[in-house]
Amino acid sequence: MSESERLLLAILAIALYSLLCLLSWFNHLRKSRQQNGQVISDEGVILVAYASQTGTAEALARQSAAQLEGTKPYQILPLNQVNEAVLANTRQALFVVSTYGEGEPPDNGAAFARHFLTDTISQDLSHLQFSVMALGDKLYQQFCGFGHQLYQGLSQLGATPVTAPLESCANEGHRAQELISKWQILSGLHTDKVADKVNAPLIPEFCFEPWQLTERVWLNSGSPGAPAYLIGLTSMANSLNWQAGDIAELKFTGGAIRHYSIASLPESGVIELIVRQHQFADGSLGLGSGWLTHAAALNDKVELRIKANPAFHSTNTDTPAIFIGSGTGLAGLRGHILQRVQSQASQNWLIFGERDPQKDDFLQAETANWVSQGVKVSKAFSRDADNPQYVQDIMLQQADKLKNWLQQGAVIYVCGNRKGMAHGVDNALQQILSEQQYEQLIIQQRYRRDIY
Ligand SMILES: Cc1cc2nc3c(=O)[nH]c(=O)nc-3n(C[C@H](O)[C@H](O)[C@H](O)COP(=O)(O)OP(=O)(O)OC[C@H]3O[C@@H](n4cnc5c(N)ncnc54)[C@H](O)[C@@H]3O)c2cc1C
Ligand SMILES: Cc1cc2nc3c(=O)[nH]c(=O)nc-3n(C[C@H](O)[C@H](O)[C@H](O)COP(=O)(O)O)c2cc1C
Repeated sequence: MSESERLLLAILAIALYSLLCLLSWFNHLRKSRQQNGQVISDEGVILVAYASQTGTAEALARQSAAQLEGTKPYQILPLNQVNEAVLANTRQALFVVSTYGEGEPPDNGAAFARHFLTDTISQDLSHLQFSVMALGDKLYQQFCGFGHQLYQGLSQLGATPVTAPLESCANEGHRAQELISKWQILSGLHTDKVADKVNAPLIPEFCFEPWQLTERVWLNSGSPGAPAYLIGLTSMANSLNWQAGDIAELKFTGGAIRHYSIASLPESGVIELIVRQHQFADGSLGLGSGWLTHAAALNDKVELRIKANPAFHSTNTDTPAIFIGSGTGLAGLRGHILQRVQSQASQNWLIFGERDPQKDDFLQAETANWVSQGVKVSKAFSRDADNPQYVQDIMLQQADKLKNWLQQGAVIYVCGNRKGMAHGVDNALQQILSEQQYEQLIIQQRYRRDIY
């Protein structure tokens, strides 16, 4: 071999080696970005996105993705984190979404919905094939309403549905493996993997157990509004498995179920609720609230189970927390405040609203005690003769302080009435913050709601 041939061979060997290094580096980069949940540019990666309030759709999304393990690369994201770049670089996607309010998205899908389904977006998604698993409940008029909106919105942007939305009803029990198999077969992703327990509940649910009514305190004697009570329930099975933010599901006559935000911590040994008595025009009382506030005698039994409510659990106690609620909404906030006071978390702000300052100042002694422990408490009374106002008015008056707390990373918890209070609070927030700050608050899951 001549000198020049040897040189050429050496150059070729170095070039080949460099190419191999480059390929391996690209592969490493792809894997590490995938691990960080940051893949935005790998077209072979399947996107599994979820929008979920109480965790069922999220659990179904994770179970669907887990069955791709070892066969296809995937990334899982809450729907609010799916942006233009993610969509532009995805060829195949599964959206697992539930519905809240009246046909509305869960909070961790609301920013996506506002941006992609209501704004005039011109993004072309003709490269995207997608499926929607829509979770809902046939008891609601707009069954799986948000799943259908999402399906239509993505189709309008040019994406191709693999199938009509795969609907699933909570009241009939979500059959997870059945949905996953349908999705896999229809989108050509069928694997032999099946979940460990076929059709086991997506989120382990506590069973209904007997509890006894052990406390009933009228919170607003003489109020112009309907009576509200602090209700105490004691487990007959010594069950104390809940955390601040969770919901109690109570089963009444005929198997009818009603939800109530839990207002106490397990350490107290009692589930406390704040229940408004629902009165019909003919004077008769609502099924659940009537039993709790009037019909039941002390020590009467009721079937109860805890429903975890992860979207309303507490986050880091190092950051400030702002609690906003009116009326019975104080229930869902109380557990969080008790916990933060107990753990000496600083910077807690409660903004509470009701009607009459003399009659409706729920748990007045307790909220005064919170003040003495450093909690900032602001109250708004809509029938205060001198200063009638709502919680959203306080937010607007103290907008600078609110912004300041949010800049320090505060998390906002909103609990109570959806139509009147929560919409007012949401409007106030949108007035106080820039569009970008408001969207960030949602995307960072620092705007948590338990509203009904
Ligand atoms: C997540 C969540 C948390 C809640 N937290 C609280 C709380 O902390 N405090 C509180 O007082 N209330 C709370 N509620 C409301 C509560 O669950 C009941 O809806 C309320 O007490 C009225 O129920 P009732 O059985 O007394 O009245 P009902 O006999 O149900 O009558 C009330 C009216 O609502 C309609 N209605 C109510 N529920 C249903 C249903 N499931 N299906 C069809 N129609 C229905 C009825 O047709 C009727 O017009 C919460 C609701 C939810 C979803
Ligand atoms: C306050 C409330 C409102 C709801 N609104 C609807 C609705 O409008 N349409 C529907 O199909 N389901 C509705 N549902 C049922 C949920 O979508 C269903 O329970 C679902 O399984 C929840 O999934 P998640 O745990 O992922 O949030 C509602 C549930 C609650 C508690």
